[in-house]
Amino acid sequence: MDEMPSPQPPAPPNESFTRRGFYIGAIYGMGAAIMAALGVPALAYLLLPPKLRKSDQWVEAGDITRLTLNVPVEITFRRNRVDGWKITSEKSTAWVVKHADNLVAFGPQCTHLGCAYHWDESKSEFLCPCHTSLFSIDGQVTSGPAPRPLDRYETKVEGKKLWLGPLQAPEKKS
Ligand code: FES
Repeated sequence: MDEMPSPQPPAPPNESFTRRGFYIGAIYGMGAAIMAALGVPALAYLLLPPKLRKSDQWVEAGDITRLTLNVPVEITFRRNRVDGWKITSEKSTAWVVKHADNLVAFGPQCTHLGCAYHWDESKSEFLCPCHTSLFSIDGQVTSGPAPRPLDRYETKVEGKKLWLGPLQAPEKKS
């Protein structure tokens, strides 16, 4: 007569429940951590207002003692631009003219279609090579299709340092 195999004793219910409970808890815990990692930035994106597109208001643009009276000099500087969530540092330029009683900084683009112009020493004027607009040393249009004078940066001088503010179109003369 065959002997019947003796049945395995069942695992104590408490030990099985504890291990199973631990795994289930760990899975829920990992799920909650993943949801928090994804959800917090998503909520911040949805609930906090984005920063508006703007540039830093004032940037240092160099030492004015290096400028010669009535000789335009192109200077290069970096400016931070905030666009929504993104902050980028971009290179920009200005044509700076030091006069006896003041200092002017022109934006680097022609007011016709935005080409980069330069100072033409032989003509003593700013020349835009794209459609040959000419601007005087004070930024006024002297010939060509440019519809208005050169744009100007707001400027201020602190000690020997030149600071440039926002770029503005010159006010229309009435
Ligand atoms: S872009 Fe300067 S003249 Fe046209």
